[in-house]
Amino acid sequence: MTIKIPHHVAIVMDGNGRWAQQRGLPRTAGHEAGEAALFDVVEGAIEYGVKEISAYAFSTENWRRSPEEVKFLMGFNREVLRARRDQLNAWGVRIRWAGRRPRLWLSVIDELKAAEKLTAKNKTLTLTMCVNYGSRIEIVDAVNAMATDVASGKLKPGAITEKTVQKYLNSNYLPDVDLFLRSSGEQRTSNFLLWQSALSEFYFCEAYWPEFRRVDFLRALRDFSLRHRRMGK
Ligand code: FPP
Repeated sequence: MTIKIPHHVAIVMDGNGRWAQQRGLPRTAGHEAGEAALFDVVEGAIEYGVKEISAYAFSTENWRRSPEEVKFLMGFNREVLRARRDQLNAWGVRIRWAGRRPRLWLSVIDELKAAEKLTAKNKTLTLTMCVNYGSRIEIVDAVNAMATDVASGKLKPGAITEKTVQKYLNSNYLPDVDLFLRSSGEQRTSNFLLWQSALSEFYFCEAYWPEFRRVDFLRALRDFSLRHRRMGK
């Protein structure tokens, strides 16, 4: 059976904390276990021909977590990027960062920038790490930038189109999301890629993220291929 493959898959890697709690482990152990899931999915995605994966690694809302967990997630993002970038590079993966600078640890920004630079020419798959990412603030930032350009005469009021808004987004290189996937049984978007997922298909599964593997990803792809996307027509 040939299946229709989504170009861009957005992933909310949810359930790390609950997975850990179920096992009597600290929440951070769940995040650690989530690393293997992400890279197994990326390897599977390459095999199945998916071209873009956007992974929600740290949201602008995650600053509300305990200082210990925030600190752990910052350090963990940095270490994972450093430890995995050569492997991803060898797979032909281009790493990109979507998110905001304010509050984000400089050492994490440096690691994201280094990974982007190292992998800039890769074409097999683009993995966008969404770190300190929030969709509403991304849109607000774009609105402010447009207002500045209107004030200086660079942009004409009334001439702003969907394309213009897209261009002003921090993640303006990202195409529309075809498949929006969330693990752990929760059915929410949680402020992830709202503009980009206006016409996407949603897939929710019960598995907690640390136990999610490429076979689960393939199940999501199969489900996607059975959907009839009318795109408003
Ligand atoms: C949501 O689970 C997950 C996060 C907030 C962090 C995402 C990070 C990972 C999946 C680890 C992999 C990261 C990298 C950098 C590869 P949760 O803590 O909200 O789980 P819960 O809903 O069960 O509490």
